[in-house]
Amino acid sequence: MADQAYVTLATNDEYAKGAMVLGTSLRNHNTTKQLVALIGPHVAEPCRAVLNCIYDEVCVVDIWDSGDTAQLALMKRPDLGVTFTKLHCWTLTHYTKCVFMDADTLVLSNIDELFEREELSAAPDPGWPDCFNSGVFVFKPSNETHRSLVTHCTEKGSFDGGDQGVLNSFFNTWSTADISKHLPFIYNLSSISIYTYLPAFQKYGHEAKVVHFLGKLKPWNYSYDTQTGKVKGHTLTPGSGDLHPDFLVQWWNVYSSEVLPALRDAYGETLFCSGCTEDKTSDCACEIIKAPPLPQDPQLSSEERKQRWEAGQADYMGVDSFESIERKLDCFLK
Ligand code: UDP
Ligand code: GLC
Ligand code: MN
Repeated sequence: MADQAYVTLATNDEYAKGAMVLGTSLRNHNTTKQLVALIGPHVAEPCRAVLNCIYDEVCVVDIWDSGDTAQLALMKRPDLGVTFTKLHCWTLTHYTKCVFMDADTLVLSNIDELFEREELSAAPDPGWPDCFNSGVFVFKPSNETHRSLVTHCTEKGSFDGGDQGVLNSFFNTWSTADISKHLPFIYNLSSISIYTYLPAFQKYGHEAKVVHFLGKLKPWNYSYDTQTGKVKGHTLTPGSGDLHPDFLVQWWNVYSSEVLPALRDAYGETLFCSGCTEDKTSDCACEIIKAPPLPQDPQLSSEERKQRWEAGQADYMGVDSFESIERKLDCFLK
């Protein structure tokens, strides 16, 4: 159907990896709908190339950040102000109906039946079930709705500092007005609910159609052993939460077999950091899509570089950039 589409958002290269896996999972389950990725202006060129292979449309949009640090601090997610950018999806008026999906979702079976639902259909949020979770929702693009949402944000702000707060106060009859707008939880099974209600997961988990890796920790923060097919530890601080191993493996299967080869082509093998290329048994998501440091002088030995650094001639934009140092540190820490 050319006038119906799945839409996702990736403002940076990290979330772009999620979008690549999501789009691939939709294709693997034979969707008949169009796929649209909204991306931020800083998403790197090779990532855009890979997204272009998976998605029918890749649209660069302006980043819209709520800047509401106080509300975001309550969620312990200062990074989620940019989710206001999601609201641009209402401007995709060349489609008559769309399903928005967070870039941290993974499709486990065909979900095209969602297009039978009307705006605004969504599943309950696991933390506050009278609110819907805005990681998966059915909507109808409309410039008028977009304008009203912008006004709503400007005048009233968002109670969580992100899009979910705004959308729940804008579509504020969702919890009471029409049960057909309540999507079954299996269309947005958030990984944290698995542990908070394990018996329900044991009974219904096998019916899941979409898994949502909600929370600070994302699948791309882990690494993967290509020989054993097992997901290894994550790069965030211990205790920051863990994702369900079966779903993580499913995400990584798609990433390592279908996305990573495309990324390698787009970037070239040489761009892996030494920590990853030397250990051929593991795929690491953290290095590959960061832009490489510009080669300052390929002939320079590390001793010569050290001397230049000590003489105050650091290559701040290239090999000695903050990003490059951070990457090296990450490798050591792993
Ligand atoms: N997002 C993004 N860049 C960011 C943060 C979020 O593109 O820096 C997008 C992405 O589509 C993501 C969604 O906004 O899936 C919501 O953020 P996230 O999934 O991290 O929130 P959570 O579901 O964990 O509350
Ligand atoms: C939520 C949703 C996410 C949304 C964020 C900010 O937890 O899962 O989709 O962007 O809150 O409102
Ligand atoms: Mn999410």
